[in-house]
Amino acid sequence: MTGFLWDESMETGDPLVDQQHRDIHALVDYVETADDSPEQIMQVLDRLMEHVDCHFMTEEQLMERAGYGGAAAADHIAEHRELTDAARQAVLQFRSGELTSMKPVVAFVREWFAGHVYEHDRVFVEFVRSRAMSAETPEPWASKPPF
Ligand SMILES: [Fe+2]
Ligand SMILES: [Fe+2]
Repeated sequence: MTGFLWDESMETGDPLVDQQHRDIHALVDYVETADDSPEQIMQVLDRLMEHVDCHFMTEEQLMERAGYGGAAAADHIAEHRELTDAARQAVLQFRSGELTSMKPVVAFVREWFAGHVYEHDRVFVEFVRSRAMSAETPEPWASKPPF
């Protein structure tokens, strides 16, 4: 397996947020390196999207609990929406056969996460940690985690 481009500089310091980032990178890695059938790739993509949804909800609920608002929070959430919309669009194109490989898409997701973690997640988690708060798995994921 190649391309697991995760290093400690991407840790935010929140255990759950960091675990979710690692899980997402592992799933991206799988899609990037797999030679499996499109059906199997599809299953992993569904799982990946589930993880991404759960992760964004985790961060956005924490923003709300911690009172993290204003332009920084609005920009942060807008980036989450942009990524989800772009990824969903690509999954639909792959499902319909319009896209023959998801590898460029997941490579984009990986790059996106690296930039987003540095620019938004680390700033946000620093704010949250200064208030001695941490992320929790949100409902509906808490009762049925996507892992
Ligand atoms: Fe984020
Ligand atoms: Fe994140």
